[in-house]
Amino acid sequence: GKGGYDHFMLKEINEQPTSLAQAVEGRIDPENGRITLEDLGPGTFAGIETVQLVACGTSYHAALYGSIALNRAGIRTTAVLANEYSISAPPVDDGTLVIAVTQSGETADTLSALRQAKLEGARTLTVTNVVGSTAARVATDALFIRAGPEIGVAATKTFSSQAIMLVLLARRIAADTQSDPPENGEALLAELAGMPDRTEDVLATSDAERIARRYHDSRSYFFIGRGLGFPVALEGALKFKEITYEHAEGFASGELKHGPLALVTPETPVFAVFTGEEDEKTLKNASEAQTRGAPVVAVCPAGHEALEIADGHLEIPETNSTLAGLFANVQLQLVSYHAASLLDRPIDKPRNLAKSVTVE
Ligand code: M6R
Repeated sequence: GKGGYDHFMLKEINEQPTSLAQAVEGRIDPENGRITLEDLGPGTFAGIETVQLVACGTSYHAALYGSIALNRAGIRTTAVLANEYSISAPPVDDGTLVIAVTQSGETADTLSALRQAKLEGARTLTVTNVVGSTAARVATDALFIRAGPEIGVAATKTFSSQAIMLVLLARRIAADTQSDPPENGEALLAELAGMPDRTEDVLATSDAERIARRYHDSRSYFFIGRGLGFPVALEGALKFKEITYEHAEGFASGELKHGPLALVTPETPVFAVFTGEEDEKTLKNASEAQTRGAPVVAVCPAGHEALEIADGHLEIPETNSTLAGLFANVQLQLVSYHAASLLDRPIDKPRNLAKSVTVE
């Protein structure tokens, strides 16, 4: 059942301290900076030169998040929409690892990309939530996110777990393929171990309901972020449109001035995600929207410089920029949920959508 919550979505958002703990359980050792991914032991990824991530929807946003982490770990990576893969895939060979990121493991688009990559000689892996899913059977290797069942059509806890698994995987692959392993490994792993508790704090103290109440009758909703904040902005907008039925869009912060700014009015609140990656630039982009009358909600730590101009604040803990976006994402999930609830939407089963899309 819903465990006392009005909707599965809210239950699943609130389960993230547990699902994140399960994702990393037994897989990280902060003492020595080591990552153990079951049978994907040392040497598994030897010879991998490039990585392609294929996924759809929310899982694609997790894949984008992962692709940034992989690139930063020195691994050449692209994230490709699975439904574009058949006509736009970059070339593959036996030095290519194709990773299908799919909660259900049953998404037709993702499965056909995976099958195509396998047929063309790539090595394959799936990051999935469902043991025994088709993706887990088709891919050579599988890595399970262990998020537990997700009933709400809107993916929430599985997004954060997929992103975390890809962050771990980046370090695991780098260990096998890079002579110069990425720095700050221990610090990141220590932060990771503390993530469930800090997520609990975000959930317990979130101001998202008040923010949703203030802005839920706007005309359109913009979400901006840069670096790892960019996929979070995309995901924030997808969640918002999916369950509120209101128009929302996510942009890379720096793109606002290349077109979308024309849409900005006092009726288009801008949610700006600050992940500690060139925040001063994102702040400038948000200010430009504010100058056109848009209210700016800053998703950032307490005491952040963005709060000098922001009209609203959704607080995230001070943390490593690799993880900051995931706390921001929790806040944005809550904003979408509360806005949808104020608008009286069904939430768990939005119109026209299915939990698992088994046709191409
Ligand atoms: O099961 P998958 O992760 O492969 O599903 C992919 C998308 O259909 C899915 O992420 C969808 O975008 C979400 N349910 C949206 O919240």
